Amino acid sequence: MLQPRATAQCVAVGTFLPERRLTNAELSARVDTSDEWIISRTGIRERRLVEPGTPCSVIAIAAGHDCLRNAGVGAETLDGIIVATITGDQRMPATANVVQHALGATKAWGYDLLNACNGFLAALTTAASMIEAGRAKRILIIGADVMSSIIDHHDRNTCILFGDGAGAVLMEAGPGDAAVGVRGWEMHSDGAGANELIVPCTGSAPALPGQKPVVYQNGRTVFAHAVRRMAEVAEHCLTSQGLAGSDVDLIIPHQANIRIIEATAERLHVPMSQVVVNIDRVGNTTAATLPLALAQAAADGRLVTGTRILLVAFGGGFTWGACYLQWGRSA
Ligand code: UT7
Repeated sequence: MLQPRATAQCVAVGTFLPERRLTNAELSARVDTSDEWIISRTGIRERRLVEPGTPCSVIAIAAGHDCLRNAGVGAETLDGIIVATITGDQRMPATANVVQHALGATKAWGYDLLNACNGFLAALTTAASMIEAGRAKRILIIGADVMSSIIDHHDRNTCILFGDGAGAVLMEAGPGDAAVGVRGWEMHSDGAGANELIVPCTGSAPALPGQKPVVYQNGRTVFAHAVRRMAEVAEHCLTSQGLAGSDVDLIIPHQANIRIIEATAERLHVPMSQVVVNIDRVGNTTAATLPLALAQAAADGRLVTGTRILLVAFGGGFTWGACYLQWGRSA
């Protein structure tokens, strides 16, 4: 096998969650739903919301600061910043430029990456490829979404699902033969599902009559595809490395629905005790779910140097992927 010049390592994680909690009880007072329905169908108990009008860069910057602080690294040493988001501050400029300036990352380039709930994995695999090729040594990847800015707060099909939040991971170059780092990944797309989960009226395509720039989801169809694709890609990402579920310490799945997460774990024969779940407390934060779950694992003492992790996600596109890595910085 070709030895990469460098190993891409995930060395620190940071987050930002807004203070404000939106409970199922509050939602039940606003739309025709119930705590029982939401918990049994999704696993969500509450989500966090920013103050209305808060731009995405604010929470992305906060997560970036937290990550750099946890890493013990100065922003001026960054080569690049990738912000995965579907709710950037503006159409132009890319939010990553705003983040770059605010962090004081004076020599870093920055751009946004739009790939919905699979955006963080897209950022991670892009950064890993640059680092492995010797094109960058230190890249900050951030997943941040202000989902409350693109939700119809009176549509019970969607308003119960999403929350706001941001998470960041610092990626660094380690030696080519390092014992920890990104080991393997795969990404997929199927645009046949493009209309099943969509935020229309936000691009160059003409709007259909009555459409608004909010999330529309054909829940049942998306659910069926998510269950199938998450399980498939998780299993294949491991088997292509000669591994099985039993070789993994932690599964970090996209947090869209506890039933999808459980189905993925079952397919891999991994007990739920090894699966990181925070959907009950933060809901679906789109591009932020994976770093928020990584931070949850760190807070629980389950994320240490060498921890074997499988990240897996599915989102609007359709787009899905998985990545197997060993956490931490080589000695
Ligand atoms: O993150 C990106 C990827 N997204 C996903 O992976 C999400 C995938 N989809 C899902 O998680 C689930 O489909 C939902 C949680 C969105 C919906 O759950 P479901 O079990 O698939 O429900 P459903 O859409 O089949 O709806 C069942 C019933 C419907 O009523 P009828 O037609 O049976 O009379 C809905 O109108 O539940 C109704 N319903 C609700 N009832 C109470 C839909 N939303 C609600 C609600 N409260 N909030």
